[in-house]
Amino acid sequence: MILVTGAAGFIGSHLCERLLADGRTVVGIDNFDPYYDRAIKERNLAGLRGHPRFSLVEVDICDADALADALAPHAGSVEAIVHLAALVGVRPSLDAPVRYHEVNVLGTTHLLELAAANGIGRFILASSSSVYGVNPRVPWREDDRDLLPISPYASSKLAAEMAGHVYSHLHGIRFLALRFFTVYGPRQRPDLAIARFARAIREGLPIPVFGDGTTRRDYTYVGDIVEGIVQALGYEDERYALFNLGNDNTVALADMIEVLGETLGRAPIIERRPLQPGDVPQTWADISRARERLGWRPATSFPEGIREYVRWLEGGSGEE
Ligand SMILES: NC(=O)c1ccc[n+]([C@@H]2O[C@H](COP(=O)([O-])OP(=O)(O)OC[C@H]3O[C@@H](n4cnc5c(N)ncnc54)[C@H](O)[C@@H]3O)[C@@H](O)[C@H]2O)c1
Repeated sequence: MILVTGAAGFIGSHLCERLLADGRTVVGIDNFDPYYDRAIKERNLAGLRGHPRFSLVEVDICDADALADALAPHAGSVEAIVHLAALVGVRPSLDAPVRYHEVNVLGTTHLLELAAANGIGRFILASSSSVYGVNPRVPWREDDRDLLPISPYASSKLAAEMAGHVYSHLHGIRFLALRFFTVYGPRQRPDLAIARFARAIREGLPIPVFGDGTTRRDYTYVGDIVEGIVQALGYEDERYALFNLGNDNTVALADMIEVLGETLGRAPIIERRPLQPGDVPQTWADISRARERLGWRPATSFPEGIREYVRWLEGGSGEE
């Protein structure tokens, strides 16, 4: 049995579907945080609700007692925790740094405590490319310790990785932090650029573009991320390890908008805005470690992934 936190979210719902398809039993945890609409999260769960091997507990990871109660019926049968629940979003974290640290660091620590107390031997953390921050040495490698986060969201993810090191050292828990690089695909979070831009293009509205369009992102298709998590569930080497899950192929903001416009069949209207504080100029993953040790390789090119995303949007499932 796998415990998945953040199960009602974008990545969490895809992961739960995959784990069930693989024959696993899944307990999901989510508090339906109001960062975005609950109705969207309920739609994310549509393929999971009612599945005989899936259950969802509505609980806040900051509430240690409620977490322990949620786990109690399954004590002894949980093999691994995949911890995806978090306060997400870089820019909003600038206005709520304490809250981000509470959920992303304290909440993670509650889950690590739960793992230690219940003999759960594997913990996978959704970390983020943002921990590298403004480190100029790209592509970023996991053994580069020059981590220079520039937002409370990023520092909370780094602190969560460190908390994991403590528990792997003290309690022998296998702790793997997967540093995701901008994830996109069907059900993408509505606050992320691709989702916002796609909505605007479809409605013929201008897209606010921060900076001159030269910022670059290493976009990763959600199916590839899910594959990486599944591979991490079988990883038997070091007890503490960090893995970049990115695409090793950066896309400029201007090119992202062009691909999106072409796929949607409408010309984007661009409205230039200044770069935002907290935004890093580029993200770029060196993924050789994940290739060599997990056997992971991203299989979906950016144009293919965008086609899948647009197919989902136009199928009506992405309406808010
Ligand atoms: N999407 C990306 O591009 C990206 C990139 C890097 C890292 N990540 C990480 O991957 C994970 C999943 O991201 P996502 O894009 O699917 O986000 P998401 O917001 O869709 O999913 C996160 C889920 O966590 C839940 N949650 C938030 N606070 C909670 C709490 N206190 N208790 C219980 N549940 C809580 C939310 O309700 C939500 O359903 C996050 O940890 C995020 O930081 C995502």
